[in-house]
Amino acid sequence: MSTWRPPERIRHAPAAGRWPTPAEAARARLFSPIALGPTRLAQRTWVPAMVPWRASSDGFVTPNVIEWYERFARGRPGAIVLEATGIRDVPSGPLLRIGDDRFIAGLRELVGRVRAASGGQTRLFIQLIDFLAIRRRPDPRRFLQEFLQITDRHRAACGAQSASDSEVRAWLSQRPHAELAEILTPRELEALEYGQRERVTDVNLPHIEELPRRLPALFADAARRARSAGFDGVELHYAHAYTMASFLSRLNTRSDGYGGGIEGRLRLALEVYRRVRTEVGADFAVGCRFLAEECIPGGTPLEDAAAFGCAFARAGMNFLSLSRGGKFDDAAQPKIGAAAYPYTGRSGYECMPSYYSDARGPFGRNLEPAAYIRRAIRAEGHATPLVVAGGIHNFEQAEEILADGTADVVGFARQALADPDWFIKVRSGRGAEVRLCLYTNYCEALDQRHREVTCELWDREHLDEPGSARSADGKRRLIAPQWTP
Ligand SMILES: Cc1cc2nc3c(=O)[nH]c(=O)nc-3n(C[C@H](O)[C@H](O)[C@H](O)COP(=O)(O)O)c2cc1C
Ligand code: SF4
Repeated sequence: MSTWRPPERIRHAPAAGRWPTPAEAARARLFSPIALGPTRLAQRTWVPAMVPWRASSDGFVTPNVIEWYERFARGRPGAIVLEATGIRDVPSGPLLRIGDDRFIAGLRELVGRVRAASGGQTRLFIQLIDFLAIRRRPDPRRFLQEFLQITDRHRAACGAQSASDSEVRAWLSQRPHAELAEILTPRELEALEYGQRERVTDVNLPHIEELPRRLPALFADAARRARSAGFDGVELHYAHAYTMASFLSRLNTRSDGYGGGIEGRLRLALEVYRRVRTEVGADFAVGCRFLAEECIPGGTPLEDAAAFGCAFARAGMNFLSLSRGGKFDDAAQPKIGAAAYPYTGRSGYECMPSYYSDARGPFGRNLEPAAYIRRAIRAEGHATPLVVAGGIHNFEQAEEILADGTADVVGFARQALADPDWFIKVRSGRGAEVRLCLYTNYCEALDQRHREVTCELWDREHLDEPGSARSADGKRRLIAPQWTP
């Protein structure tokens, strides 16, 4: 699957900038505390959710999941958001799950181990996700022979209204692709070329129609379990290619009060939040991650995102974390037998920009939108903290984001993966020892293939070190080598 890159292909390198002395760091905004509703971060640094593909095939925490988060915790960031975790009790492959009480024990152990590894300095949130079904791109013959539902439109195309399904299938199978593109509906063609993908607007399907009735309780139950496992809060996943972002999207044309105008599109997001809040109470942090911009044609623009931010703040969310893009709508065509991946199109690039970029480059592409959204929230009189991420890797950049009022907390996803000790190194005046992320997206390519995520800057280092866990193929270490402060 080829990933979209800006055609300019200008190569950008991360800049170390000037690292602070310990005294400067002690005075820095970045290392100052901030309240997120009922909880408090010791510093304004944040490791956003990253799926590392280490859960068991039935969604449980494994020793490798624990070691992954312990490794981040040893760097003592202000907060870590645990990867997108499924809220339903349905098989979801090796995606972490929280859809039943049987998942609590593993999560509780993880929380305890992460707390111990950070000396109690790092707050731990869990990202709660719901997603709709997506199928792999089918073999065209099988699609026409088995999956496609034969309709009168297909019969009319073959000119034989009385033909049997199998006769129509046989006829369709003989048609060249260009002709099939004329005969099939746009959704059927999409299913053939990309794999079938459900949308929140498929209200003819009962399980999609009833989402507004089902999701608040599913999120609330998951949040209750997160609380019982000892997390400091939950991050409702309202971003990227998943169900809640699709409700917020301008492409959501549902006419049942949960789509169309901005009020309708916001309705489920607010109902989910209120149900979660009722379930967990006021002394547990609840926030969400949503998109500053969808970055797809016809998608949600910045003005809508500012309105969402204000509505979430007004409703009482304790933090708002911004991302951008990451949609299925413009994803690259997968190979036959593979599923589309929402980070392969232009919107995917906006979500995880890499070093080959346009003139603007991959660093801080979400900053201006974040500043716009934060201004709108402040103008309404809300102090809700805003988290921003995207290509942030050096201290000066992070400090400026806080100084100029772009955001209140700074997210470092790939930079923390490249060097989980970034926070402790910079805080202690040893920034020069930071391993800077190169934004090559080697890690993202592993994520795309659902393989254990590692960083190319350290995954072949000290492979002979006793006790270092290896990837399934034995070739890579699974966590960054130890750094001695
Ligand atoms: C391997 C990988 C997995 C990710 N998984 C998630 C996820 O589960 N939930 C989410 O909201 N974002 C996810 N992201 C996006 C990051 O949280 C972040 O928004 C993005 O990488 C841009 O920030 P950065 O430039 O600091 O890396 C993932 C990113 C990577 C590289
Ligand atoms: S593999 Fe490492 S260096 Fe490359 S983008 Fe990912 S974290 Fe950064």
